[in-house]
Amino acid sequence: MKATAVAHPNIALVKYWGKSDVETNLPAVGSISITLDTLTTTTMVDFSAGSERDELILDGAPASEERSRRVRSCLDLIRRRRPGLPPVFVESENSFPTAAGLASSASGFAALVTAVNAVLDPPLGIDDLAEISRRCSGSSPRSLYGGFVELALHGEGTRVRPVLDRSEWPLEIVIAVTSRTAKKVGSSDGMELTRKTSPFYESWVSGSPYDLALARGAIASRDFEALAAVSEASCLRMHAVAMAAQPGLVYWTGTTVECLHRVRALREEGAPVFFTIDAGPQLKAICDPAASELVAATLAEVPGVIEIVRCGLGDGARVVED
Ligand code: PMV
Repeated sequence: MKATAVAHPNIALVKYWGKSDVETNLPAVGSISITLDTLTTTTMVDFSAGSERDELILDGAPASEERSRRVRSCLDLIRRRRPGLPPVFVESENSFPTAAGLASSASGFAALVTAVNAVLDPPLGIDDLAEISRRCSGSSPRSLYGGFVELALHGEGTRVRPVLDRSEWPLEIVIAVTSRTAKKVGSSDGMELTRKTSPFYESWVSGSPYDLALARGAIASRDFEALAAVSEASCLRMHAVAMAAQPGLVYWTGTTVECLHRVRALREEGAPVFFTIDAGPQLKAICDPAASELVAATLAEVPGVIEIVRCGLGDGARVVED
């Protein structure tokens, strides 16, 4: 009745931004991501702790009401498939700042459903786990798999599949942390505001299948330049559509923008590197391993960068020994 799972955040190269159904958290667009290694969420679930209701400890302290509510609704989705599951004590720890644009909800829900599944008899299949975690965080099913992963719109729902193993194209990621403050507008609220008020929303949604096709092709042929072009375009369009909302959403700091220019300058000088930025102020530079020292050193010098985190591509969510 007790299990522990680990999962890693993932970073979208072709971004998900916008929901076609808020109730079921159905994304309006597909997405393609890479799963990281170094950053980790470790989640322990204990159904034998005698808790009276589901309880969540996050990074050593009782979780906020909002976070606890999201975790309970995830557990309730599992209970719909497995009635009779008792209340659970959940202890989760991130090795990185929560809710600051490092995709903690993705690794959080991927680790949670994987840990709970380890105590179910019989366990749920991975497509069920993906569906449950997607309803809680649209990016989290991508963390169930390692390497390059696509979350595609599929029938009335979504389907998540690995597209390339990490060993086939071992890119590296250099994260420039520019702020540790949790973002003011979370991604769900930001997406809804964008859908309701941004004049560019429809063209963002209709352009997504083309970006997905370009990225799929670039990954299949390990074409770094092509992946750089489509990833930066998808990132900038996501931020553009969000900035055009009313009131406009600006997730960047001045340092984020300066890092973006440094990455572009490095690429113009011949270094294989491109950037992406999620709904937060951190810049993620994706590069060939041969360029990662230079990329890390360059970003570390940008005034306002408070930490550099380096990662490779990681594995999907998995159960670990306690
Ligand atoms: O999964 P959510 O609800 O945290 O949304 C993630 C949105 C982005 O990180 C900005 C883009 C993405 O595809 O991961």
